[in-house]
Amino acid sequence: MVGRGIGGVATEFVQGTNEEPRTVSDETAALFRQLTLGVHVVGVAHGEQRDAFTAAWIMQVSFEPLLLALSINPQHASYPLLRRAQAFTVTVLKQGQLEIARHFGTQSGRDMDKLAVMPWRPGRSGAPVLQNGLAYFDCEVTATFRAGDHELVLGRVVDGRILDPGAAPLVYAETGDMDGSSGLYPAAF
Ligand SMILES: Cc1cc2nc3c(=O)[nH]c(=O)nc-3n(C[C@H](O)[C@H](O)[C@H](O)COP(=O)(O)O)c2cc1C
Repeated sequence: MVGRGIGGVATEFVQGTNEEPRTVSDETAALFRQLTLGVHVVGVAHGEQRDAFTAAWIMQVSFEPLLLALSINPQHASYPLLRRAQAFTVTVLKQGQLEIARHFGTQSGRDMDKLAVMPWRPGRSGAPVLQNGLAYFDCEVTATFRAGDHELVLGRVVDGRILDPGAAPLVYAETGDMDGSSGLYPAAF
């Protein structure tokens, strides 16, 4: 049976069980989790202001020049800092760092200083790099494009290093619904 859940999302009820109803957007969220993505902490700084947020939507998009693409929600506290500084860092998280992903990905710099409890150092631009990550990149923004409800930011890689050569990267699918995305997918394509 398909009903209408909170916010008009279609809901599938499992008859004869006490299971929580699964919504169609849960299934869409599970579908999108099949795209293999890493988990990263993006650092930004402008003047004395700093912030960092968890991001899965990052990929390499060019060899020459070396470019990374990042998709950022313009509502984030980090966004105006990134736009003003025209720079950002990417710390790649490793297996076992789920709590770091949660720390930077479920709280906003508007409400707290997320970096106060984490060892970090400034990258070339001053944007924070987490010292206990797997690797980092330091990027200068070369272009931005509106991408639906996000903004696509191209960053030229000006520095970077592997910090823990033996470690394996944390994979986005392992974060489950930490980002709350099952509530964000539309009910239909
Ligand atoms: C696993 C995970 C992945 C995320 N990926 C992204 C992403 O790729 N882009 C984005 O804009 N926000 C992403 N987020 C959401 C931000 O990390 C989150 O909204 C954060 O609180 C914003 O922090 P800020 O307001 O301090 O900038 C993700 C969150 C999690 C938990």
